[in-house]
Amino acid sequence: MKSKLNWGILSTGNIASKFAQGVLDSRTGQLAAVASRSLASAKKFARQFKVPKAYGSYSEILKDPKVEAVYIGTPHPFHAQWAIAAAKAGKHILCEKPLAMNSVEAEKIIKAVKRHKVFLMEAFMYRCHPQTAMVAELIRKGTIGKVRHIQASFCLNRPYEPKGRLFNPKLGGGAILDIGCYPASFSRLVAGAAQGKTFVEPLQIEGRGRIGLSGVDEWSEATLKFSRGITAELLCSVRFAEETRARVLGTKGSIFMTRPWRPADSGVFIQKNQEEKPKEIRIKINRGIYAWEADTVAHCIRSGKLESTAMSWNDTLGNMKLLDGWFRAVKKSAG
Ligand SMILES: NC(=O)c1ccc[n+]([C@@H]2O[C@H](COP(=O)([O-])OP(=O)(O)OC[C@H]3O[C@@H](n4cnc5c(N)ncnc54)[C@H](OP(=O)(O)O)[C@@H]3O)[C@@H](O)[C@H]2O)c1
Repeated sequence: MKSKLNWGILSTGNIASKFAQGVLDSRTGQLAAVASRSLASAKKFARQFKVPKAYGSYSEILKDPKVEAVYIGTPHPFHAQWAIAAAKAGKHILCEKPLAMNSVEAEKIIKAVKRHKVFLMEAFMYRCHPQTAMVAELIRKGTIGKVRHIQASFCLNRPYEPKGRLFNPKLGGGAILDIGCYPASFSRLVAGAAQGKTFVEPLQIEGRGRIGLSGVDEWSEATLKFSRGITAELLCSVRFAEETRARVLGTKGSIFMTRPWRPADSGVFIQKNQEEKPKEIRIKINRGIYAWEADTVAHCIRSGKLESTAMSWNDTLGNMKLLDGWFRAVKKSAG
């Protein structure tokens, strides 16, 4: 790439720090500015990551001509507002998952980026990792025969804090939105690959779970039906931990991933029906997953693309619709 992409970071929380480090470790990006609701917090972040400019409001960073692309790392209820404002300001956008609180908001963001002709990707870093692309390719090639069933989960055990981001409805709390979005997007990717497509949408969504005292889902499961008889089981939780897994079962064997969402040292296991031991394939990347994500975005932007094949706009929209349906089903089942 001829010139490095100048990033502006909106927010100074947990994941914004990880992404800032990712930009520092990337091959294509550099940090141009950071914005926080508090100038003191922006300055502290700027010192930590050697960012040349710090702003005490998100609106200010959008006026900075040096900033080419923004990374939005606020809680999900504020994604739509700031993504639309960034699009209007002509900034390219990498916005944390879930892109919005629901599919209606997501459509508004996509409409804005289309109108202002800026890049947008929902920050599903696992979709940028070559391990994910490899699994989709193995399925497309028929390595495990015809795909019959998909199992995927993402569970965390967090203490109940009604005011915290994971439990407070005003901050977008709930397991489905925060982490259920990963298994949901994986099932659509795999069911799509099984049919020679990038992704497909489920024909039927059933859901069960627990709505906690603060009104958000603390754990949820879903059973999906896709075309060609493919079924999927999804599980997410913020109140108990469970082995995080992604498994695809086919007519000739299965694929098992031990670290589907943050691929690292362990790899992808392929178990053929007749073989005793699974075969492991490891894909190592020479930089962290957030650096890889920053590079994926920069390559798209520098080649004039407005969306990435890693997570296209329609893919995001389909996933948001699945999350809407999943939450509706859980709410109904919880009574
Ligand atoms: N891709 C991943 O690996 C990953 C991992 C974790 C989280 N996430 C996503 O990233 C987003 C943020 O998660 P996080 O864990 O970084 O949260 P966090 O640590 O609570 O940080 C969120 C930041 O958002 C800003 N913010 C703006 N308006 C806010 C408000 N009204 N209340 C609280 N904070 C507000 C704050 O920064 P300022 O005070 O500087 O304005 C705050 O530090 C969520 O959408 C989450 O789903 C993604």
